[in-house]
Amino acid sequence: MTGLVAGPSEQWLVEDLLRVEDVLATTAGGSSHPLTAEASTHLIKAGGKRLRPALVLTTSRAGRAGERATDLAAAALELVHLATLYHDDVIDETETRRGVPTVHAKWGLQVAVLAGDYLFACGCGLGAEAGGEVPGILSNAIANVCEGQIVESEALENAQRAPSEYIATIKLKTASLFAAACELGSSTSGVEGATRAALADYGLNLGIAFQLVDDLLDLVGDPELTGKELGTDLREGVFTLPVLLAAQRDERLAHDLDAGLRDLEVVLKSLHATGAVSDTLAEARGYGKAASSALSGLPESEWRSVLDKTVEGVLAQVP
Ligand code: IPE
Ligand code: IPE
Ligand code: MG
Ligand code: MG
Repeated sequence: MTGLVAGPSEQWLVEDLLRVEDVLATTAGGSSHPLTAEASTHLIKAGGKRLRPALVLTTSRAGRAGERATDLAAAALELVHLATLYHDDVIDETETRRGVPTVHAKWGLQVAVLAGDYLFACGCGLGAEAGGEVPGILSNAIANVCEGQIVESEALENAQRAPSEYIATIKLKTASLFAAACELGSSTSGVEGATRAALADYGLNLGIAFQLVDDLLDLVGDPELTGKELGTDLREGVFTLPVLLAAQRDERLAHDLDAGLRDLEVVLKSLHATGAVSDTLAEARGYGKAASSALSGLPESEWRSVLDKTVEGVLAQVP
């Protein structure tokens, strides 16, 4: 599992991620109770991009690389991310994640909620072991994700929602973990001042671009590649930016959505006809550009080039 970009020229990142993988497996699989251990490691074994730990590790290269606290923080953040996925799949009623059955599809809602809580606890435990600012950064990020998900639940089925409100929500529910990844990399490696602020800015903008791309993939992606079902957002009444833009431009679509009609094929036609798909991709590119610009004052380096390539990798996921 190598983030989105670690290839042969980034052997250090491949090796760093392998150490984090060990911490992940032993921590989440630490229970002597077979079902607890199996359910808590289910999605770790299934794969995933490991994007957030890769960001922790890569940004730590701006300072003292190789600190044990960095590995612990990287694993902690992936565990927190996993916990949010367990709960998100319950909320979204999805059957597939990372190409395998979701935890609730396999073991039921109780196990999914509790194993998600277990993973939050594992992440917090690693955060405490890392010490310093790590627990504070993690708890702040968790609170933001939860708040973002609550805001999203209030806006369900609202096709008139302002795009700016949508962006504010994804900053909380998604970009906060990306910003936290960069804060954790900085904090555990002793990076301060303007460099730390630039990296956090990079993370926040990358996170917004990432969620916009994910929103597009829910509509026009290939489930074989995403490992998730198509059309989940629409089915659950989560109107993402492409749908909000299309509804602004297509009265008929807005009317249908208000009436509870949201057939994927019909919506897709409107999304393409109104330019909402290409405009959402352009918006994602804009945030990607902001992420790259945040790095422009930092020294040229291998780690900076990985961060730039990560922006490209995120955007390149859209078919
Ligand atoms: C999924 O994140 C949740 C979102 C914020 C869209 P990822 O797409 O990074 O999921 P994994 O870790 O690769 O499975
Ligand atoms: C959820 O966003 C982000 C989280 C806080 C987990 P999505 O609902 O779009 O994530 P996916 O598409 O299920 O991965
Ligand atoms: Mg979801
Ligand atoms: Mg999604």
